[in-house]
Amino acid sequence: MTLDVTDLRKTYPTGDEALNGVDLSVGGSETTAMIGPSGAGKSTFIRCVNRLTEPTGGTVEIDGTDLTALDDDGLREARRDIGMIFQEYNLVERLTVMENVLTGRLGYVSAWRAFRRSFPPEDIERAYEILETVGLDDMENKRVDELSGGQRQRVGIARAVVQQPKILLVDEPTSSLDPETSNTVMRLLTEIAAEREVPVLINIHEVDLAVEHADRIVGLHDGEVVFEGSADELGDDTLDRVYRGGDPPESRAPNASEGPADDDAADESVVRNGVVSADGRASERPTSGGS
Ligand SMILES: Nc1ncnc2c1ncn2[C@@H]1O[C@H](COP(=O)(O)OP(=O)(O)OP(=O)(O)O)[C@@H](O)[C@H]1O
Ligand SMILES: [Mg+2]
Repeated sequence: MTLDVTDLRKTYPTGDEALNGVDLSVGGSETTAMIGPSGAGKSTFIRCVNRLTEPTGGTVEIDGTDLTALDDDGLREARRDIGMIFQEYNLVERLTVMENVLTGRLGYVSAWRAFRRSFPPEDIERAYEILETVGLDDMENKRVDELSGGQRQRVGIARAVVQQPKILLVDEPTSSLDPETSNTVMRLLTEIAAEREVPVLINIHEVDLAVEHADRIVGLHDGEVVFEGSADELGDDTLDRVYRGGDPPESRAPNASEGPADDDAADESVVRNGVVSADGRASERPTSGGS
């Protein structure tokens, strides 16, 4: 499936211009990471894609169907194909792991079954299988409020995957997780993309995780895409632009764009270690810790 976003705009009633004309396409079984400082518009973008937030302009097409043109019924149906994994977990605390995962199937069962929370056996079988994939087998009867942050995040992933979406949208999957669990969660998401042939779009602060796991990186600054490319193409100039709104290299003094200066080479290795700037100037260090 393909998601084609064209000229997406969002101005909140407060006057905040969160998105200023974003174009983006994701498809295949590719993992795309959207990086950018706090307030860049990453969450707004993801929420506008499935209209949890109404965009003020532009189109969002999924396999050619424009979601912004759908009525409530059409939207409800279209959302079945979109798996969302939220920054705030959105799990039902007092329900078990299994019950939370099965809520991912609610879009498919009748209102009566949904009310009684009675699911067809094949849904339950699939839920067990996915719990195993995310490493939560044997935890299905545990209440969600008894889980660690990383376990909760994996319940959220299982719930989105059991829905059998055609695309996964993920908002900050690793905020508040330790580095090892963050890596596990990112690996899990990229594996799901590859194995289920579902494109995954992940908002993430942490550049090092994006570089390590994503096939493609999109840099957002002030509601605009300022970089799009592979992790290899993400140099120091680019990170400057994404995190501090610096000028693009071609608009700088001529020598700045001529081949890798020594500075650039040095910074390049620093970038690979997940640090934005060698001199610590970056005001928005993309490390974990939420928004
Ligand atoms: N409900 C809202 N009402 C008004 N303004 C909002 C609302 N939600 C977000 N904004 C503004 O829109 C801009 C983009 O916010 P958004 O949450 O999309 O950024 P973000 O990139 O996800 O940031 P973070 O990394 O901190 O999660 C910010 O300036 C923010 O203040
Ligand atoms: Mg956000």
